[in-house]
Amino acid sequence: MVTSNHKQGLKIRRLHPLIGAEVTNVDFNEPLQRSCVEEIHQAWMDYQILVFPHQKISDEQHVAVTRNFGTPEIFHQSIIKSKFKKEIFRVSNTDEDGNLMPQSDPIQQQLSSAKKWHTDSSYRPIPAMGSLLHGVEVSRTGGLTCFTNMYEVYDALPEKLRKRIEGKKCRHDFENLSRITGARKPTEDERAAMPPIWQPMVRVHPKTKRKSLYISLIYNDKIEGMEETESVELITELAVFAGQEKFVYKHKWETDDILMWDNRCTMHIVTPHDPNERRVMHRTTIVGEGPVLAA
Ligand code: SIN
Repeated sequence: MVTSNHKQGLKIRRLHPLIGAEVTNVDFNEPLQRSCVEEIHQAWMDYQILVFPHQKISDEQHVAVTRNFGTPEIFHQSIIKSKFKKEIFRVSNTDEDGNLMPQSDPIQQQLSSAKKWHTDSSYRPIPAMGSLLHGVEVSRTGGLTCFTNMYEVYDALPEKLRKRIEGKKCRHDFENLSRITGARKPTEDERAAMPPIWQPMVRVHPKTKRKSLYISLIYNDKIEGMEETESVELITELAVFAGQEKFVYKHKWETDDILMWDNRCTMHIVTPHDPNERRVMHRTTIVGEGPVLAA
């Protein structure tokens, strides 16, 4: 039975002048009505990042909420995804028996890459559309998730930088993550499943039709027609530009917040926290609807 948990419509409160809104008057413990899904989708397009506070839900419910917006992605490696619910990507420093993992653990090394600006699954031929992250056990010593609005970043790019990237593609390579973090290299099978791909550096959003800058400090290692050193320098310069305070919303987590972001027009990072403090975050990732559209 479909229950109505959203009789008066959503309550939406802007969180930052350029990005992010808090959404209340909806309960993810109940199935969502079509009208509610449509309202959330519209808010998502308008604000890029939505924060849903007080959503105490199970992993099953998390995946069910995600299905309202698309197909949940299943991570291509055997590590990090939950052994109980394969659609859940565990951005956590505990294992599933509840033990804290040392920073030297290969999973922690791999997850440490999230301290660099990126967008999820950009190494896939059809990159992820969005992600929903549930704060199961949140940090009090850091662990803020920060988002930048890549539409605004693109619009504000100085002419000199814009000219260097317009019409260009850059390479997104999953293996670059192990080069920059020291995490274990992908196996032959993993490499074959996820070969490097080239994507436009300026993309058009399939729904809003707005242009945005499309880069990743984790996965980009090369720009068309440039040597690797020059490529990495330019990607870094662009990421520094994108990370300016004026473009960024920093989310300080409360338990059972759910954040939903659009990977097609934002980048994110997580700030450091005390490694001895537990931080348990469960993410679903929504498969993209089609190839990246070049501007
Ligand atoms: C992520 O990069 O998907 C996770 C961000 C976080 O840990 O807050």
